[in-house]
Amino acid sequence: MSNIILRPEWHLPERQVTPEPAYRNRRQFLREFGFTGSGLLAGAALLERDAWAADAKKLYPAQRNIAFSPPDLKLSDEKVFISYNNFYEFSTSKESVVERVDKFITAPWPVKIHGLCEKPLTIDAQELAAEFPLEERVYRFRCVEAWGAVVPWTGFELRKLLERVQPKAGAKFVKFVTAMKPEQMPGLARLRGYPWPYTEGLRMEEAMHPLTILATGVYGKPLPKQNGAPIRVVVPWKYGYKSGKSLVSIELTDQQPKTLWETLSPEEYPFESNVDPAVPHPRWSQATERQVDTGDRIRTLPLNGYAAQVGELYKKKG
Ligand code: MTE
Repeated sequence: MSNIILRPEWHLPERQVTPEPAYRNRRQFLREFGFTGSGLLAGAALLERDAWAADAKKLYPAQRNIAFSPPDLKLSDEKVFISYNNFYEFSTSKESVVERVDKFITAPWPVKIHGLCEKPLTIDAQELAAEFPLEERVYRFRCVEAWGAVVPWTGFELRKLLERVQPKAGAKFVKFVTAMKPEQMPGLARLRGYPWPYTEGLRMEEAMHPLTILATGVYGKPLPKQNGAPIRVVVPWKYGYKSGKSLVSIELTDQQPKTLWETLSPEEYPFESNVDPAVPHPRWSQATERQVDTGDRIRTLPLNGYAAQVGELYKKKG
């Protein structure tokens, strides 16, 4: 028995992974053309982008992890979900985001993991997707605006990345900062008064919970730009605004991060923002939600149906 390697069922088969030398070459290429320095040459960058896009596709679809994908959940229609977006950096109109993302460049995409940790790291989003075996999970998704969906995300547990950088004892929160690229994001100019970049945060225990994932794909393909390519957070028991899109920085900190929505309106969008049908938003009820594809109205569940898994995090001590 001792020489049998037991793999979790979502283990990525070797043939789906880009060979290491190819990644090495790519890294070398990026170094030579100034990935960490003054900028890429335009033509070379285009070639590079195509190569990365081709590699990214090889990682999908990933094996579904049935332990995190209840069989009774019926997926929302893909076309509807990926074209009905909240991504204010592009537009405040959910139907228009998808029409405004073409100038958004999502590869290469360095992500910085830093702050109160022993081994800070800057790594490209695509390398992250290749380093941590990807799996698919079917999660309920609930927006604070009282609409919901059932979504097959592809990604890996955030805690695996946090463990890699070795958090220090003083790390109490994780702060997520997302991209702010005014020349590529037309919505930023229209909302000048907002405290950009879009910033979110979790308590350390929430970030380390196995349900919290970094998603790099959805519906068996790499994330579309409008859904937060190349990498976003997904925290299924919290309102959707906690799930920051197009992440550029993940910081371990001892301070509760100031988030964009909490700064704008703390009564409406508090830091914790767990899905709770019993606590109405100041302007509407949260008791029910409209399914984004069918239009059906269903009852919202406490902690969005994840009370058995995460309820313990919110039991009052003492
Ligand atoms: N992340 C960024 N950077 N900008 C945003 O406007 N909107 C949030 C969240 N993450 C948002 C964001 C909100 S309010 C929701 S409901 C979800 O993204 C929507 O994700 P989706 O468009 O993939 O459904």
